[in-house]
Amino acid sequence: MGAGNTRNPLIGADMVDMEANIFPAGQGILIQDSRIYCIKDSESLQSEFAPWWDGSKNEAKGIRVVDAGGRAIIPGLVDCHTHLLWGGDRSSEMRLRQAGMTYRQIAEAGGGIAKTVQSTRSMSLNELCHDGITRLNQAVSTGTTVIEAKSGYGLDTDSELRLLEAMAVIDDSSAVKLLPTWLGAHDFPQGRTRDEYLDELISSQLPAIAEQGIAKWVDVFCEEGWYSNDETEDIVRAASEYDIPSRLHVDEFEDSGGLALASELGAVSGDHVAKSSTESRQYAADEGTMQTFLPGTPYVLGKPLDLPMDDCIENNWPFSIASDYNPNCRILSMPFIGNLATSRTGLDPFAALVASTRNPSTTLDDPEITGTIVENSRADINILWSQYVDGWCQTPGENPIVTTIISGSIVNSNI
Ligand code: NIG
Ligand code: FE
Repeated sequence: MGAGNTRNPLIGADMVDMEANIFPAGQGILIQDSRIYCIKDSESLQSEFAPWWDGSKNEAKGIRVVDAGGRAIIPGLVDCHTHLLWGGDRSSEMRLRQAGMTYRQIAEAGGGIAKTVQSTRSMSLNELCHDGITRLNQAVSTGTTVIEAKSGYGLDTDSELRLLEAMAVIDDSSAVKLLPTWLGAHDFPQGRTRDEYLDELISSQLPAIAEQGIAKWVDVFCEEGWYSNDETEDIVRAASEYDIPSRLHVDEFEDSGGLALASELGAVSGDHVAKSSTESRQYAADEGTMQTFLPGTPYVLGKPLDLPMDDCIENNWPFSIASDYNPNCRILSMPFIGNLATSRTGLDPFAALVASTRNPSTTLDDPEITGTIVENSRADINILWSQYVDGWCQTPGENPIVTTIISGSIVNSNI
């Protein structure tokens, strides 16, 4: 899977062009160390590198054969927007939503992010790591091989640093690549004025994070009722003084011009973008800002999934999809997110796969991660239960993935 320069996202008709982007059936993949060494037809690969293989013994002379048995193989899934680390339990909010309260009203009544901040602040580094590793393993079990994770439930310097430190520990202890984002501007903490906290973000949290080099991006919850466009701009510009680029929460509930701002500020990605205008979307495409849709969030909030991904295809606007895993949206399965996108927004299953692999990879600024199966890239691959690539997201209640290989090592196998 990998037509054209894989450093660029696929857009428009190319996103649904399976012929140009999928190898024909019968191919094999040779992995050496952590990389894809070559891709060619299975029979010649086998006779060249594993002539001893007869289907009974799978390993000899330092070579291991994995027989996919005609199943489809897809790249490792790239979940480019998660809130992986937090404590507590927000299950009681469903009843409030059913009683008609909005996300904002629940937050104003002491629920939402503020409630999670309370329970997260009391967690030790060990507890955060323990929960994070459990969640990461769950994500891997459904094919995620690269995951972005945001802080944002600490909302003070020590707690935000602890969340990012936990991410570094988790990344070191796992085969999955975890890429950290500082989201100190997720909300305003109780007991501080708005100005006090904005000052803390810029004069205390940001310098500490930059000095420790523990966040790859900055994020801001830019939304009416949370951070204004001006405040977002101040934080993003301050971060860029330290060469920290941004990926931003924008236009989730209302169009505040957040995606346009993200594009103007050179953000690598504008996320949610449920309410962004056509003009902002065109501007984002012109400026190279990825639109990242998060269908899990409107799903758990009981809102219509009217995300205009088909418009993106029609207009050649690059886009990705991601889980937005958070205390309110307990979805770590990218195949389930793909299922929502295909069965509830009409997105083509192959386009949904591109939006979960190659396209988000282009925002990660990591030459190892291409989200494609091409020679020389990191060997992150999934073998599906299905013989059809489309099968990656068509089993919402079952795991469509039977084997996951990360960086050349088998991390899960149910063949
Ligand atoms: O992306 N909208 C802001 N942040 C998260 C939700 C956070 C929460 O409700 O705890 C999101 O959906
Ligand atoms: Fe989010």
